[in-house]
Amino acid sequence: MKRNITKAIFPAAGLGTRFLPATKASPKEMMPIIDKPLIQYAVEEAMACGIEEFVVITGKYKRAIEDHFDSAYELEEKLRNSGKKKLLEEINKMSHVNFAYIRQRVALGLGHAILCAKPFVKDEPFAVILSDDVIDPECFLLQEMIRVYDELKCPVIALEEVPKSEVSRYGIIDGVLDGDVYRIKDLVEKPKPEVAPSNLAIIGRYILTPDIFDILEKQKPGAGGEIQLTDALRALLNRRVIYGYLIRGNRFDAGDKLGYLKATVDFALRNKELAGDFREYMVQRLKQ
Ligand code: G1P
Repeated sequence: MKRNITKAIFPAAGLGTRFLPATKASPKEMMPIIDKPLIQYAVEEAMACGIEEFVVITGKYKRAIEDHFDSAYELEEKLRNSGKKKLLEEINKMSHVNFAYIRQRVALGLGHAILCAKPFVKDEPFAVILSDDVIDPECFLLQEMIRVYDELKCPVIALEEVPKSEVSRYGIIDGVLDGDVYRIKDLVEKPKPEVAPSNLAIIGRYILTPDIFDILEKQKPGAGGEIQLTDALRALLNRRVIYGYLIRGNRFDAGDKLGYLKATVDFALRNKELAGDFREYMVQRLKQ
């Protein structure tokens, strides 16, 4: 049976201002947690859910992403000759994967980035993955969202409860719990805490249907002067039901300095080679 969701879009054209100067000339998606760039975690998460086609929306100074997923003959040859089999396997892990790159010429916002993928997605449902939201692989968030889509055939967006003081950093929904999902009643991009309809924030995983493109084509700039995906989803609510799926596990906002540090510590504590020594160091360090 043909699977429903086989394509994923990875918007990666943002300016990464929260990490300047590190992101002045290199993409924030290439910042590593331990030894793997953020975008590779995101691609591996999609692969684990059966996604077969990967579309990266890139922009200026993002060439490193294409190089990262390309072959590296010289390096491979060196690793082969020096018997570094494990490293060779690691860098070749994705050599069979096909990537398409679409360049977003001007950073007009997340909604516009998604619209750039329209010619590739055509008329299929698809996943959107924001690689600076790092998801604990053990909570199978995307897999669960695909399951919900397969059952309900409606767009599904990932949600997390956040402190009221942080709502202005996210898209926030109003919704009612319906079984294990929220039926969304409204969405607002980056509201002030006083007017936020809830503390249920949209996090960077979406299963979308192609009817979002018609709306994005007409979408006017919203918060921050950008074409917002949240605003387009709000307009889509007039046409169809949208569900929200609450994450059961940890998410790290690796686009933020503290979130990035937390992700690094968390992954280090679960890394077979590092966990023991790292834990010991942390315990010692925190006693000082
Ligand atoms: C984007 C979305 C926002 C969502 C967030 C999740 O915002 O516009 O609705 O809550 O991703 O990470 P950004 O972080 O790009 O400002």
